[in-house]
Amino acid sequence: MELGNHTRVKEFIFMGLTQSPKLSIILFLLLFLVYVATLLGNVLIMLTVTCESRLHTPMYFLLRNLSIVDISFSSITVPRVLLDLLAERKTISFNGCMTQMFFFHFIGGVDIFTLSIMALDRYLAISKPLHYVTLMSKGRCLGLIVASWVGGFIHSIVQICLLLPLPFSGPNIIDSFYCDVPQVLKLACIDTFVLELLMISNNGLVTTVGFFLLIVSYTVIMLMLRSHTGEGRKKAISTCSSHITVVTLHLVPCIYVYARPFTALPSDRVISVTFTVISPLLNPLIYTLRNQEMKSAMRRLHKRLVPSAKELTLG
Ligand SMILES: *[C@@H]1O[C@H](CO)[C@@H](O)[C@H](O)[C@H]1NC(C)=O
Repeated sequence: MELGNHTRVKEFIFMGLTQSPKLSIILFLLLFLVYVATLLGNVLIMLTVTCESRLHTPMYFLLRNLSIVDISFSSITVPRVLLDLLAERKTISFNGCMTQMFFFHFIGGVDIFTLSIMALDRYLAISKPLHYVTLMSKGRCLGLIVASWVGGFIHSIVQICLLLPLPFSGPNIIDSFYCDVPQVLKLACIDTFVLELLMISNNGLVTTVGFFLLIVSYTVIMLMLRSHTGEGRKKAISTCSSHITVVTLHLVPCIYVYARPFTALPSDRVISVTFTVISPLLNPLIYTLRNQEMKSAMRRLHKRLVPSAKELTLG
C-alpha cells in the first residue's frame, strides 16, 4: 500500500497537433492567420454594431455579445497552441491546465447559451412581432445574458470541482493540444467510470439538448415564415439560415467529442480544431459576407471613416 506516497504531477505534456517540424510551421502559419482573422472580424462586428445606430436592436447587441465570447473562446486555446507549435517541449503546469479547462468550458458554455438566446430572440421577433419590443426589452435581454454567464460558470465549476481532488500521480502525457476533460480524466490514477458518466451527461446534455432545441426552434421559425411575404420574409430567412449554419457547424463537432465514451479516436484532433479554432471565425465570416444589413452598415462606416482619413492627410 503506497497510498500516502503518491505525489501529484507538477506539469502535463501535450502531444500537440503534430510531431513533424515541417508540418508544425505550416500549421503555425495557418492557425496564426485564422486567429488574426478571428480577432479582426469580431472587432469589426463590434465596431459596426457600436457605430451604427440603425443596428441598435437586441439582435445586433446579441451578435456583439457573441463576438466578445468568440474572441475570448479562441484566446483560451489558440495563442498557447501557436507557441507550442514552435516549442520542442509542450508543457503546461497542473494549475495552468485546470485553469485552461475551467475557462474553456465556462466560455464554451456561454457561447452555446448565447446562441440559444439569439434563437429565442428571432423566435419572438417572428412569432410575436407586435409584442416583440416589450418581450425583448433591454432589461430582459441583459437578464438573459447574465443568466448565460452564470450558466456557463456553473457548468464549468462543477466539472473542475470533480476533477481537482483526483489523484494525478502517474502518466502526464495529454493526447491533445489543449487541456480538456476527456483527456485529463484519463490520466487520473483511479477508476473514473462513474465520473466519466457524469462528465458525459454534463457536456453531452449541454451540447446535444442545446443543438436539438436550437434546430427545433429554427424549424418552427422557418415554418412560421412560410405565411409571411415580401422583403421582411427574405431578410428573416437569410438571418435564420445564417444562425442555423453557425449553430450546426459549432455544435455538431462538440457533440461528436463530448457525447460519447471518452475513448480517443484518430479524428479527434481535427474535430477539436474545428470548434476551438474555426468556429469563432464563423460569425464574422457569415455576418460580413451574407447579412445584407450588416454589409451596408459596414459600407456606411467605411465611408464615414475614409473621408476623415483623407482630411487628416490633407490637413
Ligand atoms: C450584450 O447584450 C445586452 C442585451 O442586449 C446589451 O445590453 C449589451 O450592450 C450587449 N453587450 C455588448 C458588449 O454588446
